[in-house]
Amino acid sequence: MIEPGKTYVVMGLLDADSIAWVIGRRLRELGGRVVFTVQNERIKSIFLDRSDRRIPPQELATLDLRYCDVMDDAQIVQLFEQTGPVAGVVHSIAYANPRTCLGEEFHTDALEDIRQSYHISCVSFARVARHARSVMADGGALVTLTFDTSRVYPYYNWMGVHKAALEALVRALARRHGRDLIRVNAVSAGPLHSRAASKIPGFNRLHRIWRSVSPLPWDVEADKIEVANMVAFLLGPYSRKVTGQVIHVDGGASVVAGTLMPWEQWQYPTALTDDPHEDHEGPVLRI
Ligand SMILES: NC(=O)c1ccc[n+]([C@@H]2O[C@H](COP(=O)([O-])OP(=O)(O)OC[C@H]3O[C@@H](n4cnc5c(N)ncnc54)[C@H](O)[C@@H]3O)[C@@H](O)[C@H]2O)c1
Repeated sequence: MIEPGKTYVVMGLLDADSIAWVIGRRLRELGGRVVFTVQNERIKSIFLDRSDRRIPPQELATLDLRYCDVMDDAQIVQLFEQTGPVAGVVHSIAYANPRTCLGEEFHTDALEDIRQSYHISCVSFARVARHARSVMADGGALVTLTFDTSRVYPYYNWMGVHKAALEALVRALARRHGRDLIRVNAVSAGPLHSRAASKIPGFNRLHRIWRSVSPLPWDVEADKIEVANMVAFLLGPYSRKVTGQVIHVDGGASVVAGTLMPWEQWQYPTALTDDPHEDHEGPVLRI
């Protein structure tokens, strides 16, 4: 799926729940050399170093980890000065202040928070493309992660707006970097258990709703690997003529109108209420 022996930079590793972790691990299994980025040393010590039960210390010690805060352009420049030639970059980064940019009320006067969220969750992908180009002389692929922008979700507020901008950015970057033989795509994932997701009020129960709209069964933990497989496909030679696309890995939920009829639904082996990831606070989301 990818080119064994080549270098892939996976940005946005926080802990064992991160989509970046599952992607990076998959790329390593497929023979890629993976450079992970973590936001900063403090984040690493608080989150990654404490993932020790699910990322054994022996495995952690083998990772090629770099620090890169995408709010600081100089750190992005420095990252690509140190990686050597790169075949692909995965941007698995987003942030919005949950107190101002997410929640029950869409409007906020915290304009600086909106700007920060836009910079981290969208603009940074352009900055990564700008600087990664210098180490992709033979072309390559850039992939980012998005969440369904065809509908408006409660609580997701400004992140939904920034994801829509990110998808427009994917198309703009695809147009710009075709001449460099660099492809630019996004994977739109269904809800997955992670720290970023847990910060979105009520977001954890989205997966419960997903069960009523997704024709295929959807699992917030196990299906991270399906997202990782699509990322690997978009990074590798089998997608050589694919660029500017948003590929949905969401069980098909994004194409379904309304909710599935009872006879159309996958019969989940456990009752909905038994789900360990469910957030028991706040109103139920309806999509
Ligand atoms: N979890 C989901 O349900 C879901 C669904 C669709 C898309 N996504 C997207 O997947 C991506 C990864 O999210 P995740 O769910 O794995 O959560 P996560 O919390 O594990 O990852 C988010 C990452 O963004 C990083 N980050 C935030 N600010 C940064 C900055 N200034 N500089 C550098 N890094 C910074 C965090 O350190 C963290 O590593 C995000 O873009 C998210 O929107 C997630």
